[in-house]
Amino acid sequence: MPDTVHLGSGKVRELYALDPDRLLLVASDRISTFDVVLPTEIPDKGRVLTGLSGFWFARTRSICPNHLLALRPDGRSTECRRLAMLPIECVVRGYLAGSGWKDYGATGLVCGHRLPAGLVESDRLPEPIFTPATKAETGHDENISREDAARIVGRDRLDEVERLSIALYQFAARHALARGIIIADTKFEFGTDADGRLLLADEALTPDSSRFWPADRYAPGRAQPAFDKQYVRDFCEQTGWNKTSPGPALPPDVVAGTRARYIEAFEQITGIRFADYVSRPDVVLSADGPLPR
Ligand SMILES: Nc1ncnc2c1ncn2[C@@H]1O[C@H](COP(=O)(O)OP(=O)(O)OP(=O)(O)O)[C@@H](O)[C@H]1O
Ligand SMILES: [Mg+2]
Repeated sequence: MPDTVHLGSGKVRELYALDPDRLLLVASDRISTFDVVLPTEIPDKGRVLTGLSGFWFARTRSICPNHLLALRPDGRSTECRRLAMLPIECVVRGYLAGSGWKDYGATGLVCGHRLPAGLVESDRLPEPIFTPATKAETGHDENISREDAARIVGRDRLDEVERLSIALYQFAARHALARGIIIADTKFEFGTDADGRLLLADEALTPDSSRFWPADRYAPGRAQPAFDKQYVRDFCEQTGWNKTSPGPALPPDVVAGTRARYIEAFEQITGIRFADYVSRPDVVLSADGPLPR
């Protein structure tokens, strides 16, 4: 791409500058588990993430404006507004899992939220809670209190992203549940444009940024089968890998199983056939197209 400047690589995305105001985010097929990028790719994973994000961006503009400008025909490249990203991750939890479950077990609190006593793993919370985290340059993101987050981005900004994150989560969780998927928790990233306007950015409500659970197999009191990375995690753990780089290569059946689950999540949530998305990525953007009921 001769007219673009490569700005950097994330674990999953390549970032290019199109001009001073616009970026190209290219989602690769790389997969990470336990924050380590594995040597094997999952074909089409980047398309699934791009298509799902586009689907949600097109349907949540009335809740919060976002960075999306266009999807490219390759289905994995997003033209977007170039923003100054807020240096926090805006996590919303509707269910008790992962570090939320761990913190609750230790203290009864999750990021300063006092939760009812006696909750079990994977329980649905009375209300979704906002649990910000730092954006660690390397290693694992760390949960922080809302007071710490307010010191980083300012009290008013924090109140604003908390309100928007909860509203976005509630909208998406309701629609996903109607289609058989529980969005247990999710992470949003926001940024500001040159006029100081706050926009939703990055990816949104994908299996990489969220915990998706099949609703028909939901049973609190244990860890839930994850929709997507379960094959990969199970395989990695069973190799005896110590969870530091480099990770193990994935055999073909694990690759195929993982790819199938990503595509299943895409189709179940959007009601759009993945093949149709690949031939015409814009299908996810017409908000009058198949909508979750
Ligand atoms: N509109 C935007 N303007 C500027 N930066 C953005 C915008 N949208 C997303 N980004 C940034 O682009 C990067 C996306 O790359 P990627 O998701 O691979 O990174 P990562 O966060 O390191 O990976 P992971 O999601 O696995 O933690 C992130 O650093 C994100 O904050
Ligand atoms: Mg990311």
